[in-house]
Amino acid sequence: MATQPKHIAIIMDGNGRWAKQRLMPRTVGHARGAANVRQTIKAAHALGLRYLTLFAFSSENWRRPVEEVSALMGLFLQYLESEVAEMKAAGVRLRVIGDRSAFAPLLQSRIDQAEQDTAHNDNLHLTIAANYGGQWDVLSAVRAWQAAHPTRSLQELDAQGLAAHLSTADLPDPELLIRTGGESRISNFLLWQSAYTELYFTDLHWPDFDETALKKALSWYAQRVRRFGRTDEQVLSPSTAGHFPAQDLVIPKDIKIG
Ligand code: FPP
Repeated sequence: MATQPKHIAIIMDGNGRWAKQRLMPRTVGHARGAANVRQTIKAAHALGLRYLTLFAFSSENWRRPVEEVSALMGLFLQYLESEVAEMKAAGVRLRVIGDRSAFAPLLQSRIDQAEQDTAHNDNLHLTIAANYGGQWDVLSAVRAWQAAHPTRSLQELDAQGLAAHLSTADLPDPELLIRTGGESRISNFLLWQSAYTELYFTDLHWPDFDETALKKALSWYAQRVRRFGRTDEQVLSPSTAGHFPAQDLVIPKDIKIG
């Protein structure tokens, strides 16, 4: 069975519907969502998680109404201004991944400052994905690899080389990805990094996803058997791991389709 994950990633969906159900503007839902980020960091810390990565704004979210995008940017700025001192004191290291060049200069400088202020912390590694897309991340990594190795051919690029240039290069891959809000898709989040991640979907809207809900997700994760391509029997007894040599292909006579 899987143990407690070190790294959880969360797609915080359902703020808009949370507000709509209460006949409130969507921006109120986002504000409640931001407050829940604070609670979730505390809960993650208390539960002993080491890495928490939150999808706050996707590269596709620019398509939303201007007022909503402005409200989200404003919340992000406010969040940095009000929380960084506490993060610093609590040993939380903050990183922001995504293309930050599209943000207002003030927001960019607050992000840079927050990262610098918390750079030596090691209790909980909080990563906020903002103007982030998994496809962008992979493409940027390929380009960065090529720039770092100008004399080498792309044929020499392997998975390890690519991963070393992803925006998450310093982080382990998440063992558990949670999506709130009732949808069952990844929406261009951590595409490469979640190749073997367990996916947990809950109908709860993000502002309602509390510590009890997080514990429930962790209990679900604890029941998963992580096979990484092997059989259940091999997972139980790792010494039986096989290395099938391609040139030895002999089709057994008793095997027939159907
Ligand atoms: C998805 O809900 C949520 C977002 C696009 C934004 C998430 C932002 C926050 C939680 C607050 C700001 C974050 C930080 C780190 C301060 P939705 O709007 O798509 O909800 P819906 O599917 O119900 O419409």
